[in-house]
Parts: sequence; structure tokens; C-alpha cells
Amino acid sequence: MNFYTADKALSEAADILYSLTGEELSSMIKFTPGDPKGDVVLPCFSLAKSRKKSPGVISGELANKVSFGSDSLFLKAESVGGYLNFFLNYEKFAEGVVGDFLLMKETYGSLSLGAGKKVVIDYSSPNIAKPFSIGHLRSTNIGASLRNILSFAGYEVIGDNHLGDWGTQFGKLIYAYINWGDREKIEKDPIKELLALYVKFHDEAGLLGDERPEKGNELEESARGYFKRLEEGDPEITALWKWIRDISLKDFQRVYDMLGVSFEEILGESFYNDKMQEIIDLAESCGILEKDTDGSELVRLDKFGIDTPLLLRKKDGASLYATRDLAALLYRERRWAPEKILYVVGEEQRLYFNQLFETANLLGFKSKCEHVSFGLMTLPSEGKFSTRKGNVIFLEDVLKEAHDRVKAFLDGRDLDEEAKNNIADAVGIGAVKYNDLSQNRKKTVAFDWNKMLAMDGNSSPYLQYGYSRARAILRKANFDFSASWNTGVDLLDEERNLINKLSSFHMVVESASAQFYPHLLATWLFELTQIFTAFYTNVKVLASEEPYRQNRLMLIDFYSSVVKRGLALLGISVLEEM
Ligand code: ARG
Repeated sequence: MNFYTADKALSEAADILYSLTGEELSSMIKFTPGDPKGDVVLPCFSLAKSRKKSPGVISGELANKVSFGSDSLFLKAESVGGYLNFFLNYEKFAEGVVGDFLLMKETYGSLSLGAGKKVVIDYSSPNIAKPFSIGHLRSTNIGASLRNILSFAGYEVIGDNHLGDWGTQFGKLIYAYINWGDREKIEKDPIKELLALYVKFHDEAGLLGDERPEKGNELEESARGYFKRLEEGDPEITALWKWIRDISLKDFQRVYDMLGVSFEEILGESFYNDKMQEIIDLAESCGILEKDTDGSELVRLDKFGIDTPLLLRKKDGASLYATRDLAALLYRERRWAPEKILYVVGEEQRLYFNQLFETANLLGFKSKCEHVSFGLMTLPSEGKFSTRKGNVIFLEDVLKEAHDRVKAFLDGRDLDEEAKNNIADAVGIGAVKYNDLSQNRKKTVAFDWNKMLAMDGNSSPYLQYGYSRARAILRKANFDFSASWNTGVDLLDEERNLINKLSSFHMVVESASAQFYPHLLATWLFELTQIFTAFYTNVKVLASEEPYRQNRLMLIDFYSSVVKRGLALLGISVLEEM
């Protein structure tokens, strides 16, 4: 069943065409409301091919035959140069679109596409005892917004933070802590201190420079021993590891709180420690596990065009990232039976995910998996966050800087400190997120403060400002939110443009959720706000007469509700005043 008026128009056009041609043409019909050429358009070129007539003849024949009943959403159809153009009965269309909003309000734009289906989204997934990198920031923003968008499209979403909390690196860290660590210092600033210990290990073991000191191998050997003890469940080592995990998570939680991001699950790689033997056994019984000359065990993937085999067990028996990922996949399949599992991870792990998914196929796993990849984020070449060698970026510092920069703009404004801080949080963090989410995730994204914080470009402050403008007008007008739409009132172009754009909100929710592309939604919101800005700049609202005034205020309410929801889907909050 079609709920939205735009869908009703499209399906009416498709039904009419079906009755005229006997063909199902809905996929060829375009929705272009407001285009002077036609609000709904059927290009007749492929029909022309199959019928061996010219497109112009086809569209002409169809235009002659087409007729509309009195309850149709259309007034007429015309043939122009091989296109059959439908024109809306605009009064009906506008009433329908605004009616959809009045019925649904905050849920306007939502879909039931995913009804009864579950999707697991693996996102953020930083590594404990290490800084939360810019790459993890991208994964967090993209994953969290896909979680929102997919649930708005009707899916049940399970967001899982697959923490990097297991692996041979913990052997190194535990070695370093036992030999050089200072508990108090670490508790004060966990990630920085733990990182320093980890770096010290690499330094001492000669893993950083060209020269390898004699004790290098010895150090690595003991580190391997510690990790083995951890995998075997040695209580003393486990307690140490658990402490490291807890304090790291506390640090990460601060970042998640700043970003307003949450998860259904934070299982992490360690959760699968006791679930990996099953994977090894399964691989063995499927006949795909091979022993290498050094004793390690792997799966060869040459027949899929992948030269690098996937290692499942090291020569000393230690598990790997991949072994834990396969155990996680099996666990997710059993626990949730999801329609899909999305891995929001950087492009640099492409080969790895190809290997993983092929191996999962060989093991007979059924879930459809998709690597939702993203490109690098490049940092400025100068300034506080430049990427000079050895310069580690702490995400919290970036978010604080965003806050401070916005606050500096507010200098001299007649606002109390709390109001200033609220604005600085919403705008600063919104800007960082929007910069990430408004660009095609597959491309490299530049981190550019000026562009991010511009009030007049494709930026979140511009959208947030649009929202607060709209709310200010409604406040001033004392708008009655339960008012109804006046039909039979002429509409200006600016009003029509706004209605036309708003009528397609659910369509962009659909395409963003189908392609896992938040930027489609961001671009749409930007265009919507440009249309809204033109509307309130050119059209009198507060000073206009009834029944125009009420309709215009209702459109402003409609816009503000959609932009608020759309920004929320991107994880960005709005302000009533800014
Ligand atoms: N912790 C990993 C990293 O930082 C990302 C994990 C992504 N998720 C996964 N299931 N492999 O590179």
C-alpha cells in the first residue's frame, strides 16, 4: 500500500500506463514535481525500441489515449519529444502532501521497508589502550547515522561496537605494564599512558628503528607468552587486561557522550575467545584449513582471485583478528538471524573483508555481509591537528576545539554562559559530524574548519540556522500547531517548491538506507534548506493575510519538523535559538 502522496501519484501514473500498454513501467517513471516539463515523466525511448516506432510517436499515442478521472491526482498529460509528461492537480497534491505530514508529524518520512527484518551494524570499534583515531570517528559517525536511518526505514537495528580488545598486542602491553608501568599515572590519563607504554615496548624491542637489539626477540617472546596466558584464562593476567579494558572504555565513553552515540551491544573481540575453536573445527571439517610449513593454519582463497591466504591460527596457537571475526559472524547469525551484517570500516581493510566474506561462504554461513567502506580523512597540513609524523590526534581535543571555535563566534552575544555552551556543543559537534556525513563516504574527506563552520554553505550550522529561523517565526506567530490546511488558496512558486521537496523526504530515506549513503540525506537536507531560505526571504509570512498566513506557517512547521528529523538521523541536534 502506498501511503505517501508522491507514491500515490507515481503508482497512479504506472497504473494508467499499464492499462494503456499492458506493461509494468513503474521503474521508468520519474518524479520531477515542479519541473515545467512535467511533474511525472515517462521517457518513451526503450518502449520505442521494443515496439519499433519512434519515441515521439509512442508518447503521442499515449497522450491521446490517456484520461483522468475526477479523483485523479493529475490534470493532464502531454507528449513532447518522446516524453509523456503528466501534470499534477496541484491543489490536490499539496493537500495530500501536507495531509501526510499532519497525520504523521514527527514520523513523517519513515518507512516500513525493513518491517520484520534485522540488520547488524558493526561500527566505531576502536582498539582499547589506543587513541580513538580519526578513522574510528568516521566509522562512528557513519555507522551511527546508518543505524538511525535504517531504523527510520523500519528495520530492527543492532548496533555492535566490535571493540579491538583482544590480540597479541595485549601481550606486549601487559609486558610493558609489568616492567615499566605506573598504575596511578595510567588511571589519571589511561589512553595516553597506555599508548606510551606500547610505544616504549616497540622502541625497546627495536621494532621502530632499523637496528634490532639482541633483546628484541626475547621481548617479543615474553609478550607472546603473556598473550598465551591471557588466552588460556590465567587469572592474574586476565585481571590486568580487564582493568586496561575498563579504563579504556571509560575514556571512550567520554567521546561517545560528547558525540551522543550509543550501541545495542559492546561485545568486542574478547567476547569470542571461547568461541573460536568451533571456527577452527568447522574449517577443518569443511576441508579448507591448511597447515603451513611453520605450523600456522590458514585458508587459501586463490580460486576467488585472492592471492593472500587468510590466517586463522598462528604457529604458537594464538588466534587472529580474522578468527575472532568469523566467530563473531557465527554468533550474530545464531543470535539475531539478521537480514544483513554491515561492517563500517575504512577502505584500507578491503582485502581483509574480501578474504573474510569468501571464507564465511566456504564455511557455509548464510548472512549477507557488506563492507560499508569509507575513505581517509585528511587533516590540515598546519596547525594544532596537523599530521606531522608521530603526531597522534586525540579526538577529544578535536571535539573541544570545535566547541571553542564556535564559542569564539558567540563572543559579545547577549547570552548566558550555559546558553553559549549549549550552542557551542550542538554547532561544533554537528559541524564535525556533518563534514563527514555530507560527503560520499567512499571519497577522501578533508578536515577544513572554515568550510565546516561556514554559516552560508553546505554545512550543519547553515541547516541548524534554518531550523531555528523557522522556529522563531512560529513562536512569534503564536502558531496553532493543530490548525488545518486551507485548500483552494493559490500557492506561490516558493511555496510549491517547498511542498515538492518535502513530498520526497521518504524517497531519500529509502535511497540512503538502500545504499548505506548518509550523504544522500545530507545533500537533500541542504537543498531543502536552500528552498526554505528562498521561501522566507521572498514571501511575507507574519504580515500576510488569512488564509495565506496559516498555510505559510504550516509549511514552516512542516519544514522545521523535517529538517529536525533529518538532522537527527545524521546524529545532529538542533537549537530553538541560535
Ligand atoms: N578494531 C578494528 C580496527 O581498529 C576495526 C574492527 C572492525 N570490525 C570488524 N568486525 N572487523 O581496525
